[in-house]
This record gives sequence, C-alpha cells and structure tokens, in this order.
Amino acid sequence: MSSDLSSSDQAKFVAAKRACEFVKDGMKLGLGTGSTASWMVRCLAERVDKEGLRVKGVPTSIQTSNLAEELGIEIITLGAAGQLDLTIDGTDEFDQDLNLIKGGGGALLREKIVASASDKMIVIADDDKNVERLGRFPLPVEVLGFGLKSSQSLIQTLLESQDVGSNIIKTRMVGEVPFVTDEGNYILDLYLDQIGDADMLNLALNQVPGVVENGLFVGHCDMVIVGSSDGTVKEKIKGPISKL
Ligand code: 5RP
Repeated sequence: MSSDLSSSDQAKFVAAKRACEFVKDGMKLGLGTGSTASWMVRCLAERVDKEGLRVKGVPTSIQTSNLAEELGIEIITLGAAGQLDLTIDGTDEFDQDLNLIKGGGGALLREKIVASASDKMIVIADDDKNVERLGRFPLPVEVLGFGLKSSQSLIQTLLESQDVGSNIIKTRMVGEVPFVTDEGNYILDLYLDQIGDADMLNLALNQVPGVVENGLFVGHCDMVIVGSSDGTVKEKIKGPISKL
C-alpha cells in the first residue's frame, strides 16, 4: 500500500496505520477529516476487510462519511453511538501540551463535538504540524451567516484584549464565494501569528454572539502520532492512555 507514495503521503500513512493499531474490536470511533484522516479511514477499512474487525464510526464531515461508507466501514450517528471509545483525527498544528489548531478543512465544529464525546483522542500528523506556540496557522472560527460582519467586528475588538501576535481576520472563500461548512455556516480565519493563552482565547471566542465554535482544541488530545517519510513514527503522550 505504501510503496508508491509521495514522502508527504508516506508520513501520513504510517501515522494513520499506527493509530489504527489502537482500535479494538467492537469500538465506537470518531472519524476525523482531512488528507491525513482519510489515510486513517483507509487503514481502518483494511483492518475491517482483512481481520473482520467490527467497528462503528461517527464521521466528522460529509467527505469522511462518503469515504468510510465507500470502503465498507459501518457509519452511525453520534446520537446512536452515545459516548465514543476513540477519535482519530488530523490537525493543522499541535504544541508540546498537545493543544491543537484544527479546522483547515472546515470541519472543526463536528470535529470538536465528536472529540468531546470520545474517551480518548489520537491525532495523526507529520512533524511540520509541530509548533512551539500555536498561532502560525490561521485560527478558523465557525460563525453563523446571520450577522457575520457584526460577529467579525466583535471578534476584532476581542482580539485587542488577547495575548496574540497579530489580529487580521479574513472570511474563508472558495474562489469568489464564501466557503460554507457542512452545517451551513461560514468560517472566519484569524491570522494571529502566535497565541499566548490558547485556553483563554478558546473560551473568549465562544462567548461572542454568532460564533458557533472555534478551532482551538485545548485538553482534548491524548496522543499525537507523528509520521515521517522514512516510515518511522514517534508518539507524544500527555498522560496515561491506559484505556486504549
Ligand atoms: C479539518 C481538519 C484537519 O484535520 C486539518 O485541517 C488537517 O488536515 P490535513 O491532514 O489534510 O493536513 O482540522 O477540519
């Protein structure tokens, strides 16, 4: 499966494959979104096919749902699943405390709901996503279409009182039109350069009327598996991961 891959895909593949080794028979899983997470869906489907592994997955996007279904992974709703055993997802950035910026693919809302409903979260990434301090990647904030400009202006004011390096806000576009999430909302990308207090910013952003959710994942991730193009993986763990 891995011989013809680009070095970037090889790194994503080995991280995804290692993460899937933590999946046990009968688990209910959160299935992340993005190019790295799609490798996880493929590796998981291979285990389902070859080993007869029985799992149920809650996808975090329509894109992931389509791929998982196509590859024969059983899909259920989060309502039917209740609490999940494990979520495996990609990330745009992670720091040494395993806090994350997510939402580059626009799925941060479902991703945060699913991660919050999971006993454990494993993030898969390559080393480029590792940062000393979060904020190099623009922070996605999902906002209702109603009053979008008003919410943007409130966020602009809020940023003046936050410990951030910069405060440029752009509406995410696809060509000439705004990007619309699976939930029918818009994304504001916050160009902050660096975030001094991710916990505080996460809480403050979600107080702004019209903000549905933001891409800071503080305290969700239990392990980051970093894949390399040479086929090796490194595991960064926050605490005991005994349940896995
Ligand atoms: C989607 C996400 C993705 O996990 C994140 O953007 C990383 O994607 P990729 O694996 O393609 O680099 O948060 O909302």
